[in-house]
Amino acid sequence: DRQPILAIDGPAGAGKSTVARQVAQALGLLYLDTGAMYRAVTWMVLQSGIAVTDQAAIAELVSQCDIVLESGNSLNQSSLPEKSLDARSDARSLPTLNVWINGHEVTAAIRSVEVTAHVSTIAAQPIVRQELVRRQQAYGRRGGIVMDGRDIGTHVFPDAELKIFLTASVEERARRRQQEWQSQGQMHLSGADLEQAIRDRDRIDSTRRVSPLRKADDAIEIQTDNLSIDEVTAKIVDLYRQTL
Ligand code: C5P
Repeated sequence: DRQPILAIDGPAGAGKSTVARQVAQALGLLYLDTGAMYRAVTWMVLQSGIAVTDQAAIAELVSQCDIVLESGNSLNQSSLPEKSLDARSDARSLPTLNVWINGHEVTAAIRSVEVTAHVSTIAAQPIVRQELVRRQQAYGRRGGIVMDGRDIGTHVFPDAELKIFLTASVEERARRRQQEWQSQGQMHLSGADLEQAIRDRDRIDSTRRVSPLRKADDAIEIQTDNLSIDEVTAKIVDLYRQTL
């Protein structure tokens, strides 16, 4: 018996993680950013000098890596949720969720253009998904959680009580990302390059053989081009309260 699970999936840059964090805060639920796990593994692969296509080396790395997301929740096989689920109340301090892998603090580093450019290639490898999905399922097994990613409603928790599929046009997603960079005083890619990077990631994520990005049949799609973060959050909070 478990508490409800809220799955939020969608393409790159649709605002999933910000919305998911706000929803978790509003509803007093745990939050797990599964993309951060794939990003952390990617950072570690790049850092280790392993080729992003070297599946054997990556398999070994992912099976041994210690990933920790803020709130002290180790996602290792060795330390499973019992304790960590009590950390509920401090699980989501907006705006940053700190991320560590093998003791390296990688919160900012996993958002780099380089990690972003390679993460989909690594996330497409079956062995990587198998290991990270297993940790996600262990972490969420008691429910009471919002999880965002690409395959939560279709694969990680196909029985989630509420599934949301967040979308926005590529142009809008690129515009938001640039705004975010601007607000941080950075500008990593020009508009056209950024749109291309988003398209590339969408293509790899939705055409991979193992649990590709797609809307679950029973997911509710929210097209967010003309909605603010707060409006999307409010909509999902309403849906949650209606459903559960
Ligand atoms: O959500 P975010 O953009 O941080 O995810 C980074 C990448 O991680 C995605 O483009 C995708 O390749 C991978 N990912 C995934 N499955 C998830 C979450 C993320 O394959 N559940």
